[in-house]
Amino acid sequence: ASLFSSIAPNEFIALSLSRPAHSPALCALFGSMAPQVERLLHLSKKLHDLTDEELNLIAAADHRLDGLPRIPHTAAAFNTMKMNESISQLYNFTEVFRSHMDWLKTARENVSLPNQAAEGASRHLLQLAHLLNSTLHQVGAVPQPSPLSLPVASSAFDALKFSVEISENLKAFSLWTKRSIRFLQRQSRCPRR
Ligand SMILES: *[C@@H]1O[C@H](CO)[C@@H](O)[C@H](O)[C@H]1NC(C)=O
Ligand SMILES: *[C@@H]1O[C@H](CO)[C@@H](O)[C@H](O)[C@H]1NC(C)=O
Ligand SMILES: *[C@@H]1O[C@H](CO)[C@@H](O)[C@H](O)[C@H]1NC(C)=O
Ligand SMILES: *[C@@H]1O[C@H](CO)[C@@H](O)[C@H](O)[C@H]1NC(C)=O
Repeated sequence: ASLFSSIAPNEFIALSLSRPAHSPALCALFGSMAPQVERLLHLSKKLHDLTDEELNLIAAADHRLDGLPRIPHTAAAFNTMKMNESISQLYNFTEVFRSHMDWLKTARENVSLPNQAAEGASRHLLQLAHLLNSTLHQVGAVPQPSPLSLPVASSAFDALKFSVEISENLKAFSLWTKRSIRFLQRQSRCPRR
């Protein structure tokens, strides 16, 4: 009897799904995501121009944007996910951040604060969302929309506090996404560049 005759067909499918074949299309997509994430990491520090002392006063303030994704602090949760689920989650988080960024852009505009960094971050989040969307199609998953409701920023101080909150979360998201992409590249056996 052959080695495989003892394996039921559905087990065999599960076996091959858990070790996806090397896919040049997927690897190209992951490779294009990495520079977008680097730009986001850089821009996350530019969403406000507060000094460290000013930041200490504001950072302790309450967190009010409940819709922001809570980034897992360990990669463990991610490692146990199926690839389609990890990519769905990345896509969802990216879209949630993009909604927040567009909203922050308006909030800052409304109170005459500079908004180039938010605009840049929104652009890179859109690029990342497109790449993740294409990746979802590659792995046969369907993107799910996530409706959000965001508050009104009533003063410049309010807009500044929201900028700090989004800045901190975008930084955590970018670092986590960077690790996730590396994990997905290894999982897909993408060649190292
Ligand atoms: C997307 O992420 C947000 C924030 O974590 C969550 O509230 C929402 O349910 C998620 N949506 C989908 C479709 O997974
Ligand atoms: C910006 O101003 C417009 C017009 O006053 C208002 O409708 C909108 O809610 C404001 N946006 C934010 C994020 O505060
Ligand atoms: C996702 O891709 C589909 C086609 O592959 C396209 O119709 C849709 O507009 C894309 N959505 C985003 C947000 O990129
Ligand atoms: C991921 O794929 C598995 C089958 O391999 C399926 O059961 C699951 O629903 C998929 N999840 C998503 C988010 O598409």
